[in-house]
Amino acid sequence: MSGLRKLKPEEGLMPFLTDIQQLRAKARTNIQQGLITPSYKEDAKHIIDILQIVLATELVCVLRYTMNAVTAAGISSESVKKEFDEHAREELGHLRMVAERISQLGGTPNLSPEGLASRSASQYVEGANLVEMIKENLIAERIACEHYRELIRYFADSDPVTRVMMEGILVKEEEHANDMHDLLVAYEGRPMLPGVVPDA
Ligand SMILES: [Fe+2]
Ligand SMILES: [Fe+2]
Repeated sequence: MSGLRKLKPEEGLMPFLTDIQQLRAKARTNIQQGLITPSYKEDAKHIIDILQIVLATELVCVLRYTMNAVTAAGISSESVKKEFDEHAREELGHLRMVAERISQLGGTPNLSPEGLASRSASQYVEGANLVEMIKENLIAERIACEHYRELIRYFADSDPVTRVMMEGILVKEEEHANDMHDLLVAYEGRPMLPGVVPDA
C-alpha cells in the first residue's frame, strides 16, 4: 500500500486517504488517459464494450417508439402517441448520455446501423395494433430494467460515475415500464404482469 500513510489522530484526516504529495504526483503521470487515473478500478475497454450494448439498446428503443408514435392508430390513440413520443425523446437523451460516457472513457460510440439489432438487448418488434405496440414496449422496458439493474450491481464502486448514470437511466426505464403497464390495463381492462392483483 505505497500510496497510504498512517496518519496520527491529531492530523485530523481519515487514515485511508492517499498522501497528498503522492496524489499530485500520480495525477501528473499518464495525463493522456484523461479521467482514467490509477484508482479507476475497471478496465475501461471492458466498460466501453458494455456501454456499446446499452447504446444499441437505447437506439433500438428510440426507433421503436418513434415508429409507434407515427403509426399508432385507433380510438384515443392520440394520448398514446404522445406517450410514445415522450419516451422516444427520453430514450434519445439516454443514448446521448451513454455516447458521451463512452467518449469520456476513450472509446468511439458505435451508432452504426450495421449489426444494430444483434448488439441491442431489447428487440425491434413493430406490433400489429395499438395494444400489441404497448405490449412490445412494455417487454422492451422490462428487458432494459433487468439488464441495467445487473450492470449497476456490476459497476458497484469500481466505476461510480457510470453506475450513477445507469441508475438515473434505470429510474426512467422503470417509469416507462410503468407507463406501458398502465396503458395495457386501460386498454385491456386487466393487468398483464403476473402477480399484479387488480383493484377490487
Ligand atoms: Fe432508455
Ligand atoms: Fe425506456
